[in-house]
Amino acid sequence: MREQLQKIKEEAVAAISSAQADVEALRVKYLGKKGELTSVLRQMGSLSAEERPAIGQLANEIRSQIEALIEKKAAEMRGAEMERRLREEKLDVTVPGRRAHVGKSHPLSVAQRELEDIFIGMGFEIAEGPEVEYDYYNFQALNIPKDHPARDMQDTFYITDNILLRSQTSPVQVRTMEKKRPPIKIISPGRVYRSDPMDATHSPVFHQVEGLVVDRGITMGDLKGTLEQFAKTMFGENTRIRFRPHHFPFTEPSAEVDVSCFVCGGKGCRLCKGEGWIEILGAGMVHPNVLRGCDIDPDEYSGFAFGLGVERIVMLKHHIDDMRLLYENDLRFLSQF
Ligand code: PHE
Repeated sequence: MREQLQKIKEEAVAAISSAQADVEALRVKYLGKKGELTSVLRQMGSLSAEERPAIGQLANEIRSQIEALIEKKAAEMRGAEMERRLREEKLDVTVPGRRAHVGKSHPLSVAQRELEDIFIGMGFEIAEGPEVEYDYYNFQALNIPKDHPARDMQDTFYITDNILLRSQTSPVQVRTMEKKRPPIKIISPGRVYRSDPMDATHSPVFHQVEGLVVDRGITMGDLKGTLEQFAKTMFGENTRIRFRPHHFPFTEPSAEVDVSCFVCGGKGCRLCKGEGWIEILGAGMVHPNVLRGCDIDPDEYSGFAFGLGVERIVMLKHHIDDMRLLYENDLRFLSQF
């Protein structure tokens, strides 16, 4: 047994000193639970009572020698590794820097966030709806039955007879009123689709922000106050708004809303085409049929709604004369914002 132990020790010493890597494996091989030293010690029981202490002591000595060697080797290897890394990872801190290109948010995203912030500041919550929508939500529930001429106003992408790409964010009004009881105060930003050919002022995909407020006693005065506040925050303190009568099937009365030109202040310039006013959104009092369809009693509740185009706002604010610039992702254009 003494010889076995000596042999293990010699082998271990040789193996450790020639080890290039993985001294942990050697630790397991010699000292581990199933290691060589341990398996010799398992046979201690067969020794006589006199022999046992001497062999035990020898085994312990060998164990601590091997342990010490392994520890020393491991420390050497850690040191060598550190040396190597210091050598390899040397940095020349005097090399001049290369400026990294930092991306920015797209002007449409910036505007959408700005719009959201303004309305959240007025107590609105954000609601979302699907872009692939049922005819029911996009039209029928908004008081636009199948044969209604208003359907021709918006050239819609149909997927099947009753599924389409939403042509406006107004379906989110209906989805919200179906789920929630008044008081309701939401805006819903998102993409909408119309089969218009792309040109300077049209795109088959664009963005709208819808607004909806329903409660007891909501009047057109609330609509005006809300939109006025919005216009002042978005376009400047001196901005005024005006309502022009219009027609939307889902609001009654309905209006198109203009803001006073924020370039000339109303005197007339190129941006407002000499008008002094710029149209920015559609709005009105929610039609009783729409409320009724969502199981909200129009004798008890009333509401207003509005919808605006985000592209239009961005183009006006930044004097962009071609909508296509917003989709082409030309960095020469985008980096100006
Ligand atoms: N959905 C209308 C449009 O796309 C805008 C609108 C929204 C008008 C809400 C009135 C009320 O033209």
